[in-house]
Order: sequence, then structure tokens, then C-alpha cells
Amino acid sequence: MSKPTVIATRRWPEPVEAYLFENYDFTLNEDDHPMSVDELQAALREYDAVCPTVTDPINAEVLGIDGIRAKILGNFGVGFNHIDLDAAKAAGLVVTNTPEVLTDCTADIAMNLLLTVARRTGEGERHLRANEWVGWRPTHMLATKVTGKTLGCIGFGRIAQAMAQRCHFGFDMNVIFHDPYPPAPEVVEKFNAVACDSVEDVLEQADFVSIHCPGGESTYHLLNDERLARMKPSAFLINSARGDVIDNPALIRALKNGTIAGAGLDVYEGEPNLDPGFMELENAVLLPHLGSASTETRIAMGMRVAQNLDLFFADKEPSDRVA
Ligand code: DGY
Repeated sequence: MSKPTVIATRRWPEPVEAYLFENYDFTLNEDDHPMSVDELQAALREYDAVCPTVTDPINAEVLGIDGIRAKILGNFGVGFNHIDLDAAKAAGLVVTNTPEVLTDCTADIAMNLLLTVARRTGEGERHLRANEWVGWRPTHMLATKVTGKTLGCIGFGRIAQAMAQRCHFGFDMNVIFHDPYPPAPEVVEKFNAVACDSVEDVLEQADFVSIHCPGGESTYHLLNDERLARMKPSAFLINSARGDVIDNPALIRALKNGTIAGAGLDVYEGEPNLDPGFMELENAVLLPHLGSASTETRIAMGMRVAQNLDLFFADKEPSDRVA
């Protein structure tokens, strides 16, 4: 029997590509270029499975074509706000994602951003490398203490809980959160966390606001001028979730005017094209979407896609089906 045909829209870690070559009629995107709309549509017409990732807009335009052969979109990534699920369902596609395996690494990056922006370590390294350091002195590069402060999570799913684990048990921090779908009481108890009724309650009380909600319509520009103004002037905003949750010009204004003390960002609306306003801000720590970027995690994400394909093509329910 011939093997199902599978295409990945970008290069994947080598062990995962090897697994797919062995088990499928697998096609690589050899030079790892971002695929155009035409290429994505051709993939949907030519392959049994198309495996996009979080930077591929699989929207109504891409999916609104005749002659789709694909039966499954095996997304490489936990977030799926780049896929129009209704259009995918209408086109007869099953959609899967890769939850759990990237939780720790994404929380590590959120923690890294929190520490870097609070303790000004990015700024400190730039200062040293620019040969500006003239030696230790009691007033040099004073920053903000992290231990014992309050972490406020917008969304309290898996990654937020892993962040709470680091902050509460590693840095003795208090944890507050707002989530319209709150976790089980034992999860809240574990971190001695306090559930807030609104996003605004979190913003007003937290020293570090960490975004952990999904992107997309329901959270689009949740952090706008008005909400940023609810934060303490001494507080920091951390985003390791999705860029479109923040109104970038509003955040840049807040960072410039001292409405808030700083921001640590791993994701951006319109990435990789950053609003140039961010570049000149010393109180913004800027990473290029590195949340899940450890070798171990990226292999695990790829193998999770493979597992979903394996189940699907064995006529079983894929474990990570989102549509
Ligand atoms: C995801 O998986 O959604 C991340 O943004 C990339 O790791």
C-alpha cells in the first residue's frame, strides 16, 4: 500500500524529518522559505497532510479553493490562531496542534524576560560590551527586586501555571490571575493563587503582568492605552503568548511616558516586522519568538505532529485535535 503524502511548510529538526521520511511519502521545504499563498494552496491540493506552523496564515483565502486533497492540517505549534478553524472544517480538514511539550520552555522564556527586564541585564551586557563600564559603585544600574513581588497572569492555562511554579516556588512571589475558564481548585491552591474577577484587577495589583491567553479576535489589543494605564508605574509587562494581544503603539507610549516600568516581549503583532518604536527603548527586552526554541522541545513538537498523523492515518482519533 502506498504511504500517505505529507508536506511540512518549513524545515523541522532532523530526527523528526527522518521519522517522516521513513513513515510517509514526505516532502520538505528544502530551503526553508516562508510559503506563499499559492504554494500553500498547491500543498493543500497535492498532499494528504499539510503540516504548517505558527507563521503560516491558513486563512479563509488559502482554504477557499476547490480540489483540496488534504485531510489533515498537522500544525507544528500549540497556538492555532493562524488557522481559520471554521474554514478548515468547511474544507473537510482535521486540525491538530502540539500542546504540553513546549510548556516548560515557554515558561522559561517568560521567566527569562521577567528577570532580564526587572534586573536590566540586557542593558547591562550592552553597557559592558560598549566598553562603558567604569566599575562597581553603589548606585550603578539599579533595578527592581523580583523576589517576593506579585505575578499577575492574564490567562491561567498550562504555560501560566508553569510560570507560576517558577515565580512562586523559585522567587517566593504571590500569584494572582484572571481566566474566564479558571483551572481546578487544587491548581489554584498549589500556588496559593488568587483568582481576580477581571483583567483590570490583575493589572492594578501585579508587579509583573504576564500574558498567557490565546491570540485572535477575543483578545485582540486587550492591552491597549486604557488597560496599560491601569498598571502600576513600577510594573512590568511580559508577553510570551501572542503579539496581537498588545496594541504596540499603546505599549510604546506607555514605555516612553513611564506609564509602566518596562516590558519583556517574545512575540509581536506583524512579526517579524517589529514596530521600530521598540528599538530605541532601553526598558523593553526584545526576543525573536524563542519560547519553544530548545532542541529538545522542537523535536518533541515535531514528534507530536508525527504522532497525530500516525493516529489519523491509522483511522484513529488524533490526540491533539482542535478541529
Ligand atoms: C506555539 O507553539 O504556538 C509557539 O508560539 C511557537 O512555539
